[in-house]
Amino acid sequence: MPEFTSVINKDEIQRQVSRVAATISKDYQGRELVLIGVLKGAFLFLADLARQLKLEKVKIDFLQASSYGADIVSSETIVLKKDIDIDIHGKDVLVVEDIVDTGLTLAHLINHLAGFGPKSIKVCTMIDKSERRQAAIDVDYACLTVEKGFLVGYGLDYAENYRNLPEIYHMKL
Ligand code: IMP
Repeated sequence: MPEFTSVINKDEIQRQVSRVAATISKDYQGRELVLIGVLKGAFLFLADLARQLKLEKVKIDFLQASSYGADIVSSETIVLKKDIDIDIHGKDVLVVEDIVDTGLTLAHLINHLAGFGPKSIKVCTMIDKSERRQAAIDVDYACLTVEKGFLVGYGLDYAENYRNLPEIYHMKL
């Protein structure tokens, strides 16, 4: 049986989401913002974050990436499974991730989104996991920073399980 240790509880998640939403609302005041959630893991975070933004015009879209080659992961092994539908040319874009680990997924997605010619691209993640970072990614907004460990819950999965847990746990197999 895996062992679960709570990392951040429900109330603290909501406090952190409110804090980040307030900063984003201030930074994008008077501007239109396109939130792009990275499926599947960011679905709960994006839902909570979006509802707390105090901005007049917010559009929402999703991307999905999958990485192939379990042993060596590089940005080239990441394949886009679902692209955005909204035209982001000339728009301010905020990519919303569940967790940034090596950063290779985000590097690939940012590169892809940059091809559409947006005015700006920034990154917001629920969790910034720093130890294994390989890509030089600027994380502009993060609710929580951890060094390492495998986390599940609040959108994060292990073999597609545990995404529905209302708080985030460290999982030890
Ligand atoms: P990266 O390309 O290494 O930054 O990986 C990012 C993706 O790997 C995330 O969007 C998650 O889907 C997955 N991932 C990385 N660390 C964890 C974790 O601790 N728990 C669950 N999924 C994770």
